[in-house]
Amino acid sequence: HPNETEAMRIDCFPDIDDRPNAEAETECKRRHCIFSPVLDAVNIPKCYMNMSAHAYRNKSATSRSNQQNITLEKRHPDVSLFGEDIQQIRLIVEGLSNHLVHFKITDAQRNRYEVPIPLQKNSEQMDQPLYDASQSGDSESGFYFQIKRASTNVALWNTDIGGLTYSHQFLQIVTRLPSKNIYGFGENRHFGLRHDLQYRRWPMFSRDNFVNAGDYANLYGVHPFYMCIEEDGNVHGVFLLNSNAMEVLLQPLPALIYRTIGGVLDFYMFMGPTPEDVIQQYTQLIGYPYLPPYWSLGFQLCRYGYNNLSNLKEAVSRTVDAGIPLDVQYADIDHMHERLDFTIDKVNFGGLPEYVQQLKTEGIRFIIILDPALNSEVANYSAYERGFQKDIFIKWPHGTSPDSKYANNTDIMLGYVWPNGKVAFPDFFHPDAPEYWSQLINDHHKIIKFDGLWIDMNEPANFGTNEEKPWNWPANKEPWSLKCPTNSTLDHPPYKPRGVYGLYLSDKTLCMEGLQGNGTLQHYDVHSLYGWKQTEPTLSGLQTATGKRGMVISRSTYPSSGRNSGHWLGDNDSKWSNLHDSIIGIIEFNLFGIPYVGADICGFNGDTNEELCQRWMQLGAFYTFSRNHNAINQRVQDPAAFGPAVAKSSRQILEIRYLLLPYLYSLFYRTHTQGGTIIRSMLHEFPKDQRTWDIDTQFLWGPCLLIAPVLEQGKITKDVYFPEGRWFDYYSGNEITGKRMMTVNAPRDFLPIYIRGGYILPTQDAAINTVHSRKNPLGLIIAPNTVGNASGEFYWDDGDNIVTNGSQGYILTNFNFSQNSLQADVMHNNYRDLDDLRFQTIWVYGVPKHPENVIDTGKRPIAFKYYSEMKMLYLYNFSYPMNSSFSLSWS
Ligand code: NOJ
Repeated sequence: HPNETEAMRIDCFPDIDDRPNAEAETECKRRHCIFSPVLDAVNIPKCYMNMSAHAYRNKSATSRSNQQNITLEKRHPDVSLFGEDIQQIRLIVEGLSNHLVHFKITDAQRNRYEVPIPLQKNSEQMDQPLYDASQSGDSESGFYFQIKRASTNVALWNTDIGGLTYSHQFLQIVTRLPSKNIYGFGENRHFGLRHDLQYRRWPMFSRDNFVNAGDYANLYGVHPFYMCIEEDGNVHGVFLLNSNAMEVLLQPLPALIYRTIGGVLDFYMFMGPTPEDVIQQYTQLIGYPYLPPYWSLGFQLCRYGYNNLSNLKEAVSRTVDAGIPLDVQYADIDHMHERLDFTIDKVNFGGLPEYVQQLKTEGIRFIIILDPALNSEVANYSAYERGFQKDIFIKWPHGTSPDSKYANNTDIMLGYVWPNGKVAFPDFFHPDAPEYWSQLINDHHKIIKFDGLWIDMNEPANFGTNEEKPWNWPANKEPWSLKCPTNSTLDHPPYKPRGVYGLYLSDKTLCMEGLQGNGTLQHYDVHSLYGWKQTEPTLSGLQTATGKRGMVISRSTYPSSGRNSGHWLGDNDSKWSNLHDSIIGIIEFNLFGIPYVGADICGFNGDTNEELCQRWMQLGAFYTFSRNHNAINQRVQDPAAFGPAVAKSSRQILEIRYLLLPYLYSLFYRTHTQGGTIIRSMLHEFPKDQRTWDIDTQFLWGPCLLIAPVLEQGKITKDVYFPEGRWFDYYSGNEITGKRMMTVNAPRDFLPIYIRGGYILPTQDAAINTVHSRKNPLGLIIAPNTVGNASGEFYWDDGDNIVTNGSQGYILTNFNFSQNSLQADVMHNNYRDLDDLRFQTIWVYGVPKHPENVIDTGKRPIAFKYYSEMKMLYLYNFSYPMNSSFSLSWS
């Protein structure tokens, strides 16, 4: 453990120098840093920055209402870590609303690349800012500035330990943290929900990787966002709007170091003060999440390597015959003709379009996969030809292509992925690309009636870059791979963040020199935006093709992807550890504004086993995106494949999911219209309870539904933490008084679920899929809090029409319960297609004694049963149309 001054050291060898000390010392001094290894301390930097040499100082400052504008200059123009330091930079600190403060450091003289995602900066009244951003000045460590929480005077951002570096390809900023409770950043496989501060370094640069690719692997998406619980339980969030390859490092001071290799330092701080406030504020800026179609909340089945239609059909029949609810079936790349997008393998998957139609009549939807890379070598491949005509592929700078002979003397940057030939990558930043892509989707839909699209490999992945040949290169072809220039500072920058494994940034992707946006953008800057930029035209193409809301799942994401898509957590393994990790992943993606998220249930790579798959079906039933997906050549793992026991428990748990879908859909409506999360950690709801700060083995849907899955092999109990309040066992009605830890029974076929007092959840009887369940009776679950109150809401629309500014007809009902009476008030009522849906049952938890009678508004008696053991009251034999208000009470 470092002492305080050691903990303040800012590494001067982030490029991990393991040279012998003597050599390291020379290099350290060349960098004007201090060399002083701490014995036996591997993590404490042995060479650290010397602020009197490296810092910037305040040159001049102006300020006007809500904005400070400070010009900084380098103390010593010639001192540099990685070269090309920018001598004059500008800091702007501006309040955008009471809860949002923006601070940005740019080159004072020249424009630099800035991230082209649209942000919603609504101008709002600023009468009482929650922050105080007035502190700044020069100290020994150079220029610093602070942002404090006005109400507590706690510095949430404080750069007074120095370290600010601003060079052309290395930008670093360091802040002290107000606590050790840091959550977020991604996409990585994190080992705990709360970050540890033992000098961990998390890279962010989108990359086709597998989840277990190593301790610090960067994965598919980039989310430079964290949330912090301050010591007193107030919460704030910070977003760095930057899309270059970067990393963050957390050290025990506690402090946070950002290092990025391009763009500008552009930060937004959200003042909360609750976690849900923070995410609402964040998603207000980056865009509220998509409202997924109702059917996409049903269970989904997929695998890579059905290899033919009859295997796929068998998986569907096995599932349906076992009575397991199923809403969506998928086809992966093996359904294509030679893995060419927009084609179907007529030999192995002949009849697929007809089968898709048949499934539709049974209420099952279909989703197909699309990869961005298009084969440039097959004759008459229209997807490629049309792109070629429109000239929308990512290119080399003119005349620099080493492969012009393959690319017909054009500048197209060719690579290699799944198809049998060199591929070209559509540049979604090209002004003509969205139309082109959406046209392809529309034309393909004329052949196969898919309902949603699954966009994969959009980091973008390219196999074998800079290697002799890709791993799956055809044996009969002369070795070839995409090779990037060896002398380029883009592919080989002076500093490479930790996630870059090999010599080049371009490993497993395109060369950083790639030109996009009609020559206006470099792949170096927009690499991590590829998936984000592909998402919108994919969704809009899908919507024009189907005339329906549709759903897109994207592997690569960036802040604001949630506006148009959901996400799956990528290629995990069929391992118990990945079962647990998935909870961290789904919680984090909710912090990132992408609440529609799940991991591959039962695991992707490697063979799963019966027990693991059974447990994973239980946890996965509470992913917002609930899909069982498997890799090629692995054992069959759809839930009915293991025989009756797993099939039965999978059916039972999915029936609970389906019963709760009206609640889940209502939560989606809330996040779609007000931002925020759906899947929540315990600390998200109880930030003032320190015992929740580390919990990542249980989670919530919204504020009140607690899910506590078993995550270990052989275990049949579960330790569950119940924070303060009144909780009810979902199944038995048993009341639990929080703050306490409890070990509960959890046999193999059982998932512990609890409901927090104070809430009302709308329900609907389950069925084999949502087409059928949506016709079933509606109901309510009422769980009163310690003073006997509860509330909730119900949102309903046709589930599948395109939503533009609330244009869809919908019903919104508020429920309020107090002591022994319930009031349901329809607040919005312009949904016409009522299907005669009615509320017909109510379960009330925690009713202390047998009522004498229950009556409704018109004094009509209502049938009921009272279960004295469970203290539950069941009301039935009534029927209130879903568009009418009602009330009832008992005595
Ligand atoms: C990689 C994806 O992550 C995986 O889900 C998919 O099955 C394979 N590509 C094949 O398309």
